[in-house]
Amino acid sequence: MVQAPCRTRCVPLPDVLLLNGPNLGVLGRREPEIYGTDTLADIEKAVAEEVRPRGWTVVPVQRDGEGELVGAIHQHRDTTVGAIVNPGALMIAGWSLRDALASYEPPWIEVHLSNVWAREQFRHDSVIAPLASGVVVGLGAFGYRLAAQALLHLSAESPNGLR
Ligand code: DQA
Repeated sequence: MVQAPCRTRCVPLPDVLLLNGPNLGVLGRREPEIYGTDTLADIEKAVAEEVRPRGWTVVPVQRDGEGELVGAIHQHRDTTVGAIVNPGALMIAGWSLRDALASYEPPWIEVHLSNVWAREQFRHDSVIAPLASGVVVGLGAFGYRLAAQALLHLSAESPNGLR
């Protein structure tokens, strides 16, 4: 959790975990006709813009390995108010990612840049989707902004805690 810069009393700012899985670190260069030209840095900036008015900060994590994503979830589980998760291809069979998210209590939104249901059959099921508070699919980088807005909305609905 990041400390707010202050002179007298420091209040910790809530963090949002922005978790991106395999092959998403090369967004912008990776099949731009499918995933668009926005880079992950652009997306991190967009999410930060959305949540800043609420005083939230973003903890961006991108890893190609499932184990490292699992580690990041456990590392940030008690210090984040919610998460935005693009599991990449781990949506298909990322069972340990799924189990880590099952133990992550705050709400989280699954995002896919592409419309996975309009693509190959193997992308039509997500093992993590049943656990998500919501899923945003097919709206490109804008989907991350919508996911951030969804977390803000859910938090406003339960102001005593984003659970
Ligand atoms: C993706 C869709 C997945 O099927 C694919 O494996 C990805 C990206 C998306 O954002 O559209 O890596 O999660």
